[in-house]
Amino acid sequence: MLVKPSVCIFLFTCVFQLSHTWSVNNFLMTGPKAYLIYSSSVAAGAQSGIEECKYQFAWDRWNCPERALQLSSHGGLRSANRETAFVHAISSAGVMYTLTRNCSLGDFDNCGCDDSRNGQLGGQGWLWGGCRDNVGFGEAISKQFVDALETGQDARAAMNLHNNEAGRKAVKGTMKRTCKCHGVSGSCTTQTCWLQLPEFREVGAHLKEKYHAALKVDLLQGAGNSAAGRGAIADTFRSISTRELVHLEDSPDYCLENKTLGLLGTEGRECLRRGRALGRWERRSCRRLCGDCGLAVEERRAETVSSCNCKFHWCCAVRCEQCRRRVTKYFCSRADRPRGGAAHEPGRKP
Ligand SMILES: *[C@@H]1O[C@H](CO)[C@@H](O)[C@H](O)[C@H]1NC(C)=O
Ligand SMILES: *[C@@H]1O[C@H](CO)[C@@H](O)[C@H](O)[C@H]1NC(C)=O
Repeated sequence: MLVKPSVCIFLFTCVFQLSHTWSVNNFLMTGPKAYLIYSSSVAAGAQSGIEECKYQFAWDRWNCPERALQLSSHGGLRSANRETAFVHAISSAGVMYTLTRNCSLGDFDNCGCDDSRNGQLGGQGWLWGGCRDNVGFGEAISKQFVDALETGQDARAAMNLHNNEAGRKAVKGTMKRTCKCHGVSGSCTTQTCWLQLPEFREVGAHLKEKYHAALKVDLLQGAGNSAAGRGAIADTFRSISTRELVHLEDSPDYCLENKTLGLLGTEGRECLRRGRALGRWERRSCRRLCGDCGLAVEERRAETVSSCNCKFHWCCAVRCEQCRRRVTKYFCSRADRPRGGAAHEPGRKP
């Protein structure tokens, strides 16, 4: 049997392209037109932010659904909770990251490595040198695009701008020092070092921690659209470090379906139990998604058939065997017993 690209990959590509188109439109219609040269990078960056969001929240009750991914407070998404904060931060980080990477790869005529510190003493026995990823460039351009989506002057706009900034700070703050030794036959008497972007996954993990530690500020009531109100908003946000995520509202109950809010609830979600090397967060996913939401864990056994033991035959075909493998998967399903009781208390963390 010849190996063919699987439908899954094709479907994924489809989905990818759909949301890609969405990002492009979203930014092109609202971003400053003068920056058309950067728009494809901005769209690619926003897309990588979305993918990272889905990865980081794959086993959370809220799993970064498409509906949550509309930036800008005038775009219909009026929620201002912890999840909104994460979406803004990761999107803005994705855009800055991609622009910076593009710059280092020479994709733009007007920017390159940041060598402004080169030659200066960095620490004992080492100097700055080499090609520092130009986060200053990525920061400036991404700010122009992403922050331009916030046109309001209310607390929500201020919150979004704050979290956009936190996303950019996360990119800067996770940069890594890389060094190279100099001296006779690698004796390393002197070193030159430069800062490099980490894998984007690290930025995502860093922001997930910030998400758990997000600060709630109480600004929705009172502070109106008066000059005094705007002053109070500005003062409040100025007093909070731009490394932290900020939200104004509590999250809804993600256990439950709520059509008004576009929430699907956790019924039918898959969770992980055994097998593979699961982290603590994954291992507890069945309890978090099912048990604590008053749902039962349903075991479904299935057999998967996949190509295996593929061999290349001269010339030119790849032949594979079909391997059957038993898999057990777990899903949240409505329990037969009456719902509620101790298993589903209000006031849980989202
Ligand atoms: C910047 O990088 C992204 C992702 O690697 C890519 O899709 C995009 O085309 C690049 N932009 C330019 C102008 O080369
Ligand atoms: C959906 O959420 C809204 C806003 O929080 C709430 O008022 C409403 O009662 C919820 N609906 C259901 C069915 O839970």
